[in-house]
Amino acid sequence: MTLSLTWIGHATLAVNIGGYTVVVDPFFADNPTTEATSETVAADYILVSHGHNDHIADAVALSEHTGAPVITTLEVAGWLEKQGVQTHGLNLGGQLSLPFGKVKLTVAVHGSQMPDGSYGGCAVGFLLTSPKGRKIYLACDTALFGDMRLIGEEGVDLAVLPIGDYFTMGPDDALRAVKLLEPKQVMPYHYGTWDLIEQDPDAWAQRVSAETSAQAHVLKPGDTLQLVE
Ligand code: NI
Ligand code: MN
Repeated sequence: MTLSLTWIGHATLAVNIGGYTVVVDPFFADNPTTEATSETVAADYILVSHGHNDHIADAVALSEHTGAPVITTLEVAGWLEKQGVQTHGLNLGGQLSLPFGKVKLTVAVHGSQMPDGSYGGCAVGFLLTSPKGRKIYLACDTALFGDMRLIGEEGVDLAVLPIGDYFTMGPDDALRAVKLLEPKQVMPYHYGTWDLIEQDPDAWAQRVSAETSAQAHVLKPGDTLQLVE
């Protein structure tokens, strides 16, 4: 069965896992890195990491168009439910088994105000486990934190880490994150969308190769990374 991850652009991902498509943090209309829209993207499930617009902007439209439920935090779920979206509202540390595999909400050190200014609870990351036990860690928007080591203890096959700086970890802290997580493979995202988070991903990948045993993959928006299931 296919296990792959497409970087749609910014923090928006489409993960093909267990025969299903899981779209993470749908942000299309105002996203300068993609021409994808909520009408063109397929989704069986949607994950939303927190309430910031660059992660939730098109969640309602994508769910309406595809019928996909949203897996997120209790607070973000409540906000989406008011707009008619079907949700699973988990909390930190909680894991849910779904037909594609498992999803666990991991700690993220970041804010989570909703687009209308209402309370959004905690920001989170996601740990996905495929039917054959492959683990994909999506850090989402976060600073570096030492307990990434605990996530790494689960055996991470692929870590997807922000390197943009300003809103999240920058390249130096993301490199330290690789050392804590010890993933087999790593992919940077949440950079290059706007001038504020412009970075050199190839230079970062070279540092990962020089200083860790992880294999770094630099994708362009729209590229797909194939993983061994
Ligand atoms: Ni954010
Ligand atoms: Mn963000």
